[in-house]
Amino acid sequence: MANGLDDVVAADTVLSDVDGAGGHLTIRGHSLMELAGRWRYAQVVRLLFDGFFDDLPSDTELEKAIGNARVEVFDRVQPMVAQLAPLDIYSGMRAGMAVLPDGDGLADALRLIAAQAVLTPALLRLGRGETPVAPDENADHAGDMLRMLSGTASPALAKALDSYLVTVCDHGLNASTFATRVVASTQAGLTSAILAGLGALKGPLHGGAPGPVIEMLDAIEASGDATAWLRKEIAHGERIMGFGHRIYRVRDPRADALKAVVRQLGSRSETGSRLAFAETVEQAALEVLRIAKPQRSIQTNVEFYTALLLEAVGFPKEAFSNVFAAGRVAGWIAHAREQQATGRLIRPQSRYVGPVPDLVA
Ligand code: COA
Repeated sequence: MANGLDDVVAADTVLSDVDGAGGHLTIRGHSLMELAGRWRYAQVVRLLFDGFFDDLPSDTELEKAIGNARVEVFDRVQPMVAQLAPLDIYSGMRAGMAVLPDGDGLADALRLIAAQAVLTPALLRLGRGETPVAPDENADHAGDMLRMLSGTASPALAKALDSYLVTVCDHGLNASTFATRVVASTQAGLTSAILAGLGALKGPLHGGAPGPVIEMLDAIEASGDATAWLRKEIAHGERIMGFGHRIYRVRDPRADALKAVVRQLGSRSETGSRLAFAETVEQAALEVLRIAKPQRSIQTNVEFYTALLLEAVGFPKEAFSNVFAAGRVAGWIAHAREQQATGRLIRPQSRYVGPVPDLVA
């Protein structure tokens, strides 16, 4: 039996489809390329939530409702957020989310979306010795995240972050989405289900890779020789962060979607030169991996250009997984609702391979 449940179909879903051979991602009937850079995050939330919540408002009203939820969550977590600031930024966000009500309604869902946007900037500011900035209920979600982080948000950076949130909003039955669905299948509330997703996303084999991508780029820059550095890592049995995928055997389409966004920001000189350097490293890594692992097609994945994009919009690398979660939470919630609606507990079997007790006569 495959330990990673490879090729096991564990759910029927209308939410997204990952075509690993063709390199296509479909989100509720739309290709990623149709959505990324064109749809706003609130529109994609509506797309994912449609049919899973009663009385879903229009896109504009939903954007406003998410704004209201940011204000509500900020007020709710403000008394405790300073106590969370000494934790690492991911644990701080997770702990802040754990206090939210564990219901199943739209208000609960919007609070969970809002919480990730509110907690991460607040925790980062407290970590820098600054006071958290309150949300603006009338601002767009991504722009407000940046404003809460740095006090201002240029429209170009806000649009880039919005495109990122859209690009990572859902992705089939990945580890965190599966974890979310398992908890949702017990009919625990949305907060419990999303906390399970958050736990799974954190690991470096899933959503924890983009921070290490930045560390890798910095180390390669310092070494002055990308190929030699990468070969040495492989020789030591290390994995090259931002490359490889369980499903994609060709290039991850999200990598191209995000690279296009970073390219648009490239007129800012530091982003342009970082992108040019990253492209050189990418080519070197693909070549080193092709030679080192000829039996496996290892291509660039979403995390490589996630790292560049989130760095360009102003997030420090220790908060990259938080921002990934801020996008993915919409997909998690929709999957949780889809799973709850089946009414079926997820309860697979294990095969016992341990010692057997002596039979008592
Ligand atoms: N660097 C080096 N080798 C890699 C690799 C990488 N990024 N990704 C896969 N491989 C190698 C494995 O070492 C293994 O080699 P072996 O057969 O000689 O032991 C082979 O490819 C198959 O690996 P496997 O672990 O079965 O693939 P997987 O389907 O589980 O891998 C990932 C998927 C994402 C876990 C893996 O590619 C990885 O660890 N990538 C780096 C982390 C990352 O970018 N994560 C974000 C994913 S979106």
